[in-house]
Amino acid sequence: MPDSSFLLPSDLKANYEAYRDDLRAAALRVLDSGWYIGGAEVEAFENAFAGFAERPHCVGCASGTDALILALKACEIGPGDVVVTVAHTAVATVAAIELTGALPALVDIDPRRFTMDPGRLEVACEALSRGGAGRLRAVIPVHLYGQPADMPAILEVASRYGLLVIEDCAQAHGARLAGRRVGTWGQVGTYSFYPTKNLGALGDGGALVTGDPVLAERARLLREYGWKERYVSHIRGMNSRLDPLQAALLGVKLVHLDEENAYRRTIAARYDEAFADSALLLPESFPDAENVYHQYVVMHPLREALRTALRRREIGTLIHYPVPVHRQPAYEDRVPLPAGPLSVTETVCERILSLPIHGQLTAEQRERVVTGVREWLAQAG
Ligand SMILES: Cc1ncc(COP(=O)(O)O)c(C=O)c1O
Repeated sequence: MPDSSFLLPSDLKANYEAYRDDLRAAALRVLDSGWYIGGAEVEAFENAFAGFAERPHCVGCASGTDALILALKACEIGPGDVVVTVAHTAVATVAAIELTGALPALVDIDPRRFTMDPGRLEVACEALSRGGAGRLRAVIPVHLYGQPADMPAILEVASRYGLLVIEDCAQAHGARLAGRRVGTWGQVGTYSFYPTKNLGALGDGGALVTGDPVLAERARLLREYGWKERYVSHIRGMNSRLDPLQAALLGVKLVHLDEENAYRRTIAARYDEAFADSALLLPESFPDAENVYHQYVVMHPLREALRTALRRREIGTLIHYPVPVHRQPAYEDRVPLPAGPLSVTETVCERILSLPIHGQLTAEQRERVVTGVREWLAQAG
């Protein structure tokens, strides 16, 4: 365990302490209720999160991975189908596609946003629509690090090829593009409530949001054995429920999410200003995008040296992600790259570094990061 002076890249204990009394009251309410699966707590959170996500329907489930699986299955995607996504993401995005029986096809990212390059998507669709790999059905853009993907350009390609669009919003709760929440551009938006996310449970959790009542209903059936009424399966489903305890805890934190996202933006603005005109490549801001800075990711060719220097000062950093999905043992040489090599993905993986940013990072901690990075930059020349 790091000691208390070690600055964590994200701090779950500090997040718990910030809302301690309300979280404990919510947990006790559920414990005392005698009701531990589904019910009013889950429905209340689903309604609140649908409101936050600006979508009429929200279906809670056990994780962000399951939210993707449920979204794909609700869209009737499975064996024989191809789904295009990126390799620069949590492996869960690709794993979820394979777990439905569909084939993931990976394309490169735009180096300015770190998200799907619509030009590469177009090339991939052109290649895949000639057949061979399977029926091209859907695209999953990932709003990585809290930065919205270029949805207008992605939707334009998707509509030309008749593709469904499922947005992976696991790192972008509350982000907006052109005034619209992420997760409202495609047919479905999926979320993870893994504890370190901008909205994190005290355990696992996930949800999907949609404007389509038929998709919502299918996802609701799929998450519980295909049941409409107890013990009667209308479709072949699974078990992936958000439990009332997590729903109640998430409800407490949801109230503070906009405020925490705004706070993350003030930290990012300070880093932007402190590291401007340096050798670090900083996250770009786009005038029509509201980034929620799940991560603040800088790039430098000597990333490991910077990381070591910060560690010596007891500042923790992370790399999201060190090995792109198509280079991982489980996927290498097996998952198609229909638009060619992923050179941007591979280059950025060697240079990226996530600096500490979260809703409870104090000004003093933030300035420790600023000083540590600046002194290393001065020394590195
Ligand atoms: C982009 C992305 N997609 C999907 C997931 C999967 O979420 P979970 O860990 O809740 O299954 C995550 C979280 O790790 C993620 O960051």
